[in-house]
Amino acid sequence: MTITALDRRHVWHPFTQAQTAPDPIPITSAKGIRLYAEDGREFLDLISSWWVNLHGHAHPTIAAAIAKQAQTLEQVIFAGFTHQPAAQLAAELVQRLPDGLTRVFFSDDGSTAVEVALKMALQYWRNHGEGQRTRFLAFEGGYHGDTVGAMSAGKGCGFFDTYGSLLFEVGLLPFPATWDGDDDVGGKEQAALVRLDDYLVDHGNTIAAVILEPLIQGSAGMRMCRPAFLQALAAKLQAASILLIFDEVMTGFGRTGAMFASLNAQVTPDIICLSKGLTAGFLPMSVTVAKESIYAAFLGENFDRALVHGHSFTANPLGCAAALASLQVFADEQTLAKLPQIESWHRQGLAQLATHPQVQHVRVMGTIAAFDVVTEDAGYTSQIGPQLKAFFHERGLLLRPLGNVVYLLPPYCVTQEELAHAYAVIREALDVLVN
Ligand SMILES: Cc1ncc(COP(=O)(O)O)c(C=O)c1O
Repeated sequence: MTITALDRRHVWHPFTQAQTAPDPIPITSAKGIRLYAEDGREFLDLISSWWVNLHGHAHPTIAAAIAKQAQTLEQVIFAGFTHQPAAQLAAELVQRLPDGLTRVFFSDDGSTAVEVALKMALQYWRNHGEGQRTRFLAFEGGYHGDTVGAMSAGKGCGFFDTYGSLLFEVGLLPFPATWDGDDDVGGKEQAALVRLDDYLVDHGNTIAAVILEPLIQGSAGMRMCRPAFLQALAAKLQAASILLIFDEVMTGFGRTGAMFASLNAQVTPDIICLSKGLTAGFLPMSVTVAKESIYAAFLGENFDRALVHGHSFTANPLGCAAALASLQVFADEQTLAKLPQIESWHRQGLAQLATHPQVQHVRVMGTIAAFDVVTEDAGYTSQIGPQLKAFFHERGLLLRPLGNVVYLLPPYCVTQEELAHAYAVIREALDVLVN
């Protein structure tokens, strides 16, 4: 039986309406930015395979590190035991994160990193004798994953209405999304801060934390905000003694041009969530990193002060080895120094699209570029999204518009020619499909 037939018979795919979706494309191998399909087709992976890949597929340094680790120690329980790859990775991450983020808690994926952050924030206050601080604030459009706590924090993205009865209450603030040439950004930022002030007046001493994706809301459609907004937000929260959680699951590891968006924005959160690029897209793993003062609040004689959280595969040595190898590649290939080039190639490509009458809200930050296609049904379920996706697949591009938002988030091995080609195909798609 073919891969497709087996898949069709037994597999349930994520975020997919199986009855109407085209057959999934069987991929048999990948190298660099290219995916190779069973039927001989090639695709340029311009979304880093759901935003996880950093240095290109099958990078030999990372593949070798995983193979070597697998022959030494593939897995060990992480309660009461530790191992070199985990301890070293924790130290290496702390070295690269903003000063003060010193305690690394391992889990499995972006959603669990967020769950851990929410539990840390809640229990931090409980352990401090402020058990009334149970409320969380998040942003309209924010997405934090698909587990129940993460869905609650991500209520503002609008994907989860079906599961409403499972979710806890979260206060939502407007996100001051901006783009090239936006002349109202100051007004939007002010409106968000005023809404925060209102919450502080009404609920100040019951709020545990604010969670957001710093600088770029990914799933909401690569909506970008200014560093100045994050700085103003952080100052207000600090004054009100409310914890700040940055969900850098997507923005981490270079996507915004700096190693972390928090470094880019010059804001240090109390807790940060990392995943996706952590292992350069090789293995599922995440970390939630907290300030020492948060960790200290969990110390004591009794177990009930401890963080009651853990997974079977916490700090899996293979994942840690992959993450360490990825950091090595950052050094070997001078990866961070390459990122401004990618940004300038995006700007060249977008300049040609910006003249299209149906293109608006062009935006770029670091390695991520996006624009909106003007349609009557703007939003995640816009009809234009699947049409564009099908066109791109036909032309050998893996691009997956978020509704009417077209974005590129390539691995860092992308070349100028590959990006120029992608922009030419996008222009053609707009000319054919959008008038
Ligand atoms: C900002 C953000 N947080 C959390 C998640 C959830 O991560 P995962 O899919 O690994 O659970 C995602 C996934 O896209 C994300 O973009």
